[in-house]
Formats: sequence, structure tokens, C-alpha cells
Amino acid sequence: MAILVTGAAGFIGHHVTRALLARGEEVVGLDDLNPYYPPQLKRDRLAALALAPGADRFRFVEADIADHVAVDRGLEAQPVERIVHLAAQAGVRYSIENPRAYARSNLVGHLNLLELGRRLQVAHLVYASSSSVYGGNDALPFSVGAPVDHPVSLYAATKRADELMSETYAHLYRLPLTGLRFFTVYGPWGRPDMAVWLFTDAILAGRPIRVFNGGDMRRDFTYVDDIVAGVLAALDRPPPDDGAPKPGGSRGPHSLYNLGNSRSEKLLRLIELIEAACGREAVRVFEPMQPGDVKDTFADITATTRDLGWFPTTSLEGGVAAFVPWFRARHGV
Ligand SMILES: NC(=O)c1ccc[n+]([C@@H]2O[C@H](COP(=O)([O-])OP(=O)(O)OC[C@H]3O[C@@H](n4cnc5c(N)ncnc54)[C@H](O)[C@@H]3O)[C@@H](O)[C@H]2O)c1
Repeated sequence: MAILVTGAAGFIGHHVTRALLARGEEVVGLDDLNPYYPPQLKRDRLAALALAPGADRFRFVEADIADHVAVDRGLEAQPVERIVHLAAQAGVRYSIENPRAYARSNLVGHLNLLELGRRLQVAHLVYASSSSVYGGNDALPFSVGAPVDHPVSLYAATKRADELMSETYAHLYRLPLTGLRFFTVYGPWGRPDMAVWLFTDAILAGRPIRVFNGGDMRRDFTYVDDIVAGVLAALDRPPPDDGAPKPGGSRGPHSLYNLGNSRSEKLLRLIELIEAACGREAVRVFEPMQPGDVKDTFADITATTRDLGWFPTTSLEGGVAAFVPWFRARHGV
């Protein structure tokens, strides 16, 4: 029986698929290869998967999760036992300009995955939420028990809506669900719209970098290998339907966990580390805070460590030192 990974051509989906294949699983990857960022990068990730150990147990379906008929058709041939749902319209800033893309992929798409999980009676559906649900909360570190009713971007609102829709499915249909709030993920095969990639690219090309809020921001940067370990740990531990309260407050089989490095790092420190790894200095252009952005993020991972046995092992120094050579090799710079 296969594991369905949605967003398998995406940054995190690529790494999760690779890890599942490496441990012997059969994987169906699904993605619509949309052009939010260059689809060639998504195709290259798929090409890399085709060469990875266990590639003979991987099948790819190109489909849009907002189109449930296409998803059902793509999965007809293969029984799916568990789901890792990572496909989404990501990015905070893009949601200001393109709100409908978020409604389609993150609301309709998420609902379609819940319906699929219900129809197939999957053993567990793990889905990606986001640290952005904490919005402007100023009680740091962010705990899964904290109220999250004040999102500051539509992206965050759709991710919170995903958690709420999931709660309903756990309650009504007793579908075992785990939502993972990822904190600023970076690493090889990363996303070209995120700071680590943007800064590395600009510094190596001698272009200025845009530093928001005068650099007065902190992020809990989490290395992708740690995220993958957290996704697999969660997948292997479906929440029991025992009526006991779960992290996030559910009394159904629905848990929420933070997956973050649990170290809130200054943005300026990230820039210094990338400068050191590139052997070049950045030209900093200071700009105001961007609409939809939050100033600080910091994960409380007490529940994650207690229930999933998970803790991050990669420092920001180590992660940047792994990312920059990958970026240089890919781009020949
Ligand atoms: N990278 C981070 O820092 C971060 C932080 C918090 C949450 N997340 C969440 O983690 C998940 C994976 O993020 P990522 O960084 O790998 O992003 P990504 O954009 O690289 O991957 C998402 C993939 O989903 C696909 N996709 C989008 N809409 C789709 C649709 N309608 N149908 C089918 N496929 C679709 C995209 O083509 C892409 O390949 C997303 O749910 C994202 O919101 C990521």
C-alpha cells in the first residue's frame, strides 16, 4: 500500500519523498508543477528523485488538488494507505497580490485531500501548516496551545483554516490527522522566493539584498533534514482516538505540532553566515516591514519532543554551510 505525497515536486515534498523511498516505502507523488516559481526547478527535483535509491517504488501523478476529479483519476490504479499533504500555495507576500491562488490550493485543495482521506479511510493524514498561524503573537516561544485567531496574511488564514477543517474531519469521521507547523525551512533544493536562497543568489551575483524592517527581525530557521525527520516521526505516530486532549486542544484524533529549530536567530546573523559561506560581502538595502510579515518567530517544541521523540540537530551555521555549496554547484557560480 502506497503513501501519497502531495507537493512531491516541491522543496519539502522532494526531500520527504526521497526519505520515504530510502526506507522502502511505495510512494505516489502528486503535484501540478505550477509556475509560482520556475517549474524547471520542480522538474529537476523529480529528475533527481528518479535517480534516488528506491526510485522504482515511485510513481508521479501531475494533477491539481483543487480538481478532485483529476486527483481521483490519477490515483485510481493504486491503493493509498497514508497521506502526507504538502501541496499548497506558499509564500506570505504573494498572498497580498494573489489571494485567489490561496483559496484554490489551500482551501479547496485541502478539503479535497480530507475528502480523499475519508473516502479511502486512510490510516493517517499528515499535513503542512505553518508558523505563520501565530500571526502577531508576542508571547514567545510560540506554543501549540496558544490562541491563533489573528492571522496577519491571507496565507496564514488559509493555513489556520486547514487546521480547523481538519478538526472537523477528525471529529465527524474519526480520521486520524496531524498538522505540522513548519518554521522557515531552508536547505538544498530550496525555494527561490525565500530569504536564504534570495540572499545567496544576490550576494554571489554582486546584487544588493533587501533587508526588511531595518534587519530587526528574528526567524526560527529550520534545516530541511530536520523537517523530514519530523514529518516521518509524525507519520509513524497517528494520534489515538482515545478522547484525551491532544496538542492543539482536540479531543478527536487530531494533533498539532511545531517543527522548528527552537532558536530564534537575528536576520542579520543569517546574512553574516551566508556572506562567510560565499566569501563575499552583501550590499544591504534596508527597507520597511512588509505587509503580512511577522517580526519574530520562535518554536516551542516541548510537545513535539515529548510525543514524537523529535528534536532538531542542525545549527544555522551547519545548514548554511550545506546550502551554499549546493546552490553554487547547481548554478555554476
Ligand atoms: N518552506 C517553508 O519554510 C514552509 C514554512 C511553513 C509551511 N510550509 C508549507 O509546507 C508545504 C511545502 O512547502 P514548500 O516550501 O516545499 O513549498 P513548494 O512551493 O516548494 O512546494 C509546494 C508544491 O505544491 C505544489 N502545488 C501547489 N499548489 C498545488 C495544487 N493546487 N495542486 C497540486 N500541487 C500544487 C507546487 O507545485 C509545489 O511543487 C506547503 O504546504 C507550505 O505552505 C513551508
